[in-house]
Amino acid sequence: MFHPQGPTFRELARQGLSSTRRGYDLLAPKFDYTPFRTPDSLLDAVGEQLALLGPFARGLDLCCGTGAAMRMLRPLCREQLVGLDFSAGMLAEARRSLALEAPPPPSGPQVALVRADALALPFENAFDLVTCFGAFGHILRRDEPRFVRGIHRALRPGGRFVFVTLPAPRVLSAAWALGRGYNALAHLRNLLVRPPFVMFYLTFTLEAAHALLSEAGFEVSVTRGAFGSPYQRFVVVSARRE
Ligand SMILES: C[S@@+](CC[C@H](N)C(=O)[O-])C[C@H]1O[C@@H](n2cnc3c(N)ncnc32)[C@H](O)[C@@H]1O
Repeated sequence: MFHPQGPTFRELARQGLSSTRRGYDLLAPKFDYTPFRTPDSLLDAVGEQLALLGPFARGLDLCCGTGAAMRMLRPLCREQLVGLDFSAGMLAEARRSLALEAPPPPSGPQVALVRADALALPFENAFDLVTCFGAFGHILRRDEPRFVRGIHRALRPGGRFVFVTLPAPRVLSAAWALGRGYNALAHLRNLLVRPPFVMFYLTFTLEAAHALLSEAGFEVSVTRGAFGSPYQRFVVVSARRE
């Protein structure tokens, strides 16, 4: 599961006992060697679908981490690409991996990184595209309406919020039981240890996200991506701000 250059079990335990933000600060230098980084094969398949909808003038990648999705988004955005994350450590890795200290290439969008909370987005009518990968588990269910309203506000009319998710697993299936089991342990950890580490499974599933997005005024379309194993069940959701 882990690369030899990835975190040790002890480091993972220390991260899991920190706050979410501090945990990612600690994990940042080794994050790209963990299975928590969204794999390029998945991102490239999303990129193919985005290319059919784009190009976009201004794009925003929420919870950008070390910038995995930003590499895919860069050629799809004409004017600006912003990566947003609340972990300074993850943003430092993104700055390095996207070579933002070097002189900018002669063509392509201006690329910027912003340290902010995805639940308090400092943008209004600013983007044609918002994406978010591998981070919905960090948004508590009670905060999801606020999260979706912030994205709606950040988009220009006609702009799109695009992401991948899974249909909810069948109740009592193995995936459902694993997710529920993990979530029970995570709740217990957060009862016993402060500050909490927010990471839960089975959140922002296709059905839940569809309902939240429709309620917030998005027109939602869903396509099956050309995802190879083990991502065949993933779908791409494109939510258009009306
Ligand atoms: C699992 S990583 C995913 C990183 C990247 N999107 C990827 O797919 O590889 C989750 C990221 O979400 C960020 N994050 C979690 N909660 C956040 C919040 N409320 N606001 C901003 N960033 C957040 C973390 O700092 C971390 O970089």
